[in-house]
Amino acid sequence: MISIIILFEVTKTSNITDVKMVVLRLKHQRYMTALLSSTTILLLLYFQNSLLVFTYGSYGFISKEVPCECSICVTDRENSNWFSERYDPNIPLLLNSTNSVLRSNVSRWWKELQLNAGNYTEVVDQLFPLFPDKEHYSDTGPDRCRTCAVVGNSGNLLGSKYGPLIDFHDFVIRINKGPTEGYEKDVGSKTTHRIVYPESAIDLDNSTHLVLLPVKILDIQWLISAFTTKNITQTYIDVPSTIKADKDKVMILHPEFIRYVYDNWTEGHGRYPSTGFLTLIFALHICDEVSVFGFGATSDGIWHHYFEKTLTSFESGIHAGKFENETINRLQQENKILMHKGWT
Ligand SMILES: *[C@@H]1O[C@H](CO)[C@@H](O)[C@H](O)[C@H]1NC(C)=O
Ligand SMILES: *[C@@H]1O[C@H](CO)[C@@H](O)[C@H](O)[C@H]1NC(C)=O
Ligand SMILES: *[C@@H]1O[C@H](CO)[C@@H](O)[C@H](O)[C@H]1NC(C)=O
Ligand SMILES: *[C@@H]1O[C@H](CO)[C@@H](O)[C@H](O)[C@H]1NC(C)=O
Ligand SMILES: *[C@@H]1O[C@H](CO)[C@@H](O)[C@H](O)[C@H]1NC(C)=O
Ligand SMILES: *[C@@H]1O[C@H](CO)[C@@H](O)[C@H](O)[C@H]1NC(C)=O
Ligand SMILES: *[C@@H]1O[C@H](CO)[C@@H](O)[C@H](O)[C@H]1NC(C)=O
Repeated sequence: MISIIILFEVTKTSNITDVKMVVLRLKHQRYMTALLSSTTILLLLYFQNSLLVFTYGSYGFISKEVPCECSICVTDRENSNWFSERYDPNIPLLLNSTNSVLRSNVSRWWKELQLNAGNYTEVVDQLFPLFPDKEHYSDTGPDRCRTCAVVGNSGNLLGSKYGPLIDFHDFVIRINKGPTEGYEKDVGSKTTHRIVYPESAIDLDNSTHLVLLPVKILDIQWLISAFTTKNITQTYIDVPSTIKADKDKVMILHPEFIRYVYDNWTEGHGRYPSTGFLTLIFALHICDEVSVFGFGATSDGIWHHYFEKTLTSFESGIHAGKFENETINRLQQENKILMHKGWT
């Protein structure tokens, strides 16, 4: 027991040769040799590798700087260079009154996505008298273990019986119109966040955060209108003039976050990232552990939503489906997300 503690102390310096030297030194000290039977030494040598794994690995077993209280934390930057190169913990996630000014290159890119951009500054000035103006989710730390389920709309959820598992997560983040009513067994009934844009918005219950994905300035104008004048009824298609949702739970994804996902995670493929993909990366920034449900095709390769029969396209031209798929696969390989593929 004593020797194991000594080894732990030594591995804190993260040096293999130190460990070996101490083991050797211990062997030469007569009173310690009495203490350490040869089997103990063999055991120690045997465990040396796993100790090193613990030191360098994702378990935060020895390191004092554990990023969260879960067994594996998204933000543990030690265990994946690929991830660390892309993940920027300081990127603004959600708009508020103090971070709303866009850097000129972000602004230029974002405005190019839209047909006739309104005056962003004027629109944003109306936002925060109306919606909560604060910093969200800055509570990361060693005492937090926030588990999240990101629930996509794939037909592979049908028959999965994932409902109770999904609802077990602290946050359940859903995307666009994906309903729960009538599908509870497979998709669960809890929704803490729903990511929408005007064309995909539905009524929410009062425990759900409406998280707007602003692809264009008009989307922000629509959000304001939906809670005030209700006079925006059209974007490029008819949209609901209003929706049921708790005004005090409204959040707006930051255009700079959208650009960051485009740069760092889809590496410039497609025009801008899909809602599902943005939601997944958003979850990596507000959660400590991320489980992913309802992404991808059914086991026989069919792409459709669990709530409708029409087939959906995988590569739309706007979004880089293939590249997003590869990035999601890699996130799984790097232990950053846990994929649940469904049963059908
Ligand atoms: C925008 O410009 C800043 C420097 O002004 C640079 O650091 C940043 O990487 C640029 N961002 C994009 C998305 O090009
Ligand atoms: C947007 O509105 C602000 C405030 O009304 C004004 O100062 C600015 O010049 C406008 N920008 C453009 C591009 O029209
Ligand atoms: C707005 O968000 C930023 C982080 O993006 C944060 O530093 C700032 O304190 C927030 N402002 C308000 C008013 O909450
Ligand atoms: C939220 O909705 C439930 C059921 O629709 C209702 O019973 C409850 O009073 C509502 N809570 C608030 C704060 O509006
Ligand atoms: C909606 O109403 C506001 C204020 O009454 C007005 O400024 C705006 O132009 C109207 N928008 C549309 C699309 O009718
Ligand atoms: C990710 O973003 C950061 C800054 O936000 C940048 O320095 C870095 O080069 C980006 N990495 C990739 C792979 O795009
Ligand atoms: C997405 O990735 C999975 C896992 O590697 C693969 O089986 C599937 O064929 C990919 N989908 C497409 C459409 O490329």
